Amino acid sequence: MTEKLRILSGIRPTGPLHLGNLYGALKNWVKLQDQYQCFYFIADWHALTTEFENTGIIKPSGKDIITDWLATGIDPERSVLFIQSEVKEHAELSLLLGMLVTVSRLERMPSYKDFQIATGRELSNFGFLGYPVLQSADILMYRAHGVPVGEDQVPHIELTREIARRFNGLYREVFPEPKPILTEAPRVPGTDGRKMSKSYQNAIFLSDPSPVIEHKIKTMITDPARKRRKDPGDPQKCPVWDFHKIYSDEDTRNWVTQGCASAGIGCLDCKGAFIPKVIAELEPIRDLRRYFDEHPGEVLEIIQDGCGRARSFAVETMKMVREAMKI
Ligand code: TRP
Ligand code: SF4
Repeated sequence: MTEKLRILSGIRPTGPLHLGNLYGALKNWVKLQDQYQCFYFIADWHALTTEFENTGIIKPSGKDIITDWLATGIDPERSVLFIQSEVKEHAELSLLLGMLVTVSRLERMPSYKDFQIATGRELSNFGFLGYPVLQSADILMYRAHGVPVGEDQVPHIELTREIARRFNGLYREVFPEPKPILTEAPRVPGTDGRKMSKSYQNAIFLSDPSPVIEHKIKTMITDPARKRRKDPGDPQKCPVWDFHKIYSDEDTRNWVTQGCASAGIGCLDCKGAFIPKVIAELEPIRDLRRYFDEHPGEVLEIIQDGCGRARSFAVETMKMVREAMKI
């Protein structure tokens, strides 16, 4: 039997998971478990690079996210679930890989400027500049072959490949060059029509109770042309349409297209057609979540087991790294 290829992905623990995470990452992570040896982890040191003044959220949200993973079908028997800061080797590898990257290369990473523009925060701390080096260490630590990520993370994977090449060339072949695994995820808009994101406060969270989900969708923005019930609209200009693309069959979508353009249906009718589907999808996840919330010992054990397995792998890699570097 050939060994499975390894993949790794992480998430910054800065708040609870939402529907955008479910479609953008989690559903895919669940499927990838059939094919790969998966390492999924909480990037709490990465969260620290931007949240160092507001650290309170990091610890509880890490545990919270792992609970959401378990509730959506991430299987701790097959996948290694762990917390970055519990595997101190990440810090050591990040320091060593830092020798192989120039400061100007890091200053040119798109994420460096993009984050500052998006949040309006001027961040020039050393840790934040080094964010992609730490990410490279995460990936190379497990000698991962693939990294399931969104488009925005591709430059980080590219840097990781450069660092791996540099390391292998300078010292000895230790690291495979990891490839990004991009998923085709549907667009999940937030209640304000922008991309769903916890920082925009437009998210439907996996933990939201059904009435909250219903309220959020009912008050969600629609085609601005439909100010009144009798104004016709265009689904192509309406973020609600993205939900129909995910949840509705063709008949329903035809009903929307015609009803919207003729003002034959109202926006609440239109939303009402898929609200039960969102609720039906999130309900079993929330139920399973409740089970884990009521059995915190089980979650703790899963995390400890995952951290232990990750650590064993990391210790091996670091041995190879130190030997290769003759240090
Ligand atoms: N930078 C990633 C994000 O913001 C999180 C992350 C940290 C990560 N380390 C990683 C993702 C390693 C994939 C692999 O989403
Ligand atoms: Fe959007 Fe539906 Fe209202 Fe048309 S009817 S504007 S598609 S919510």
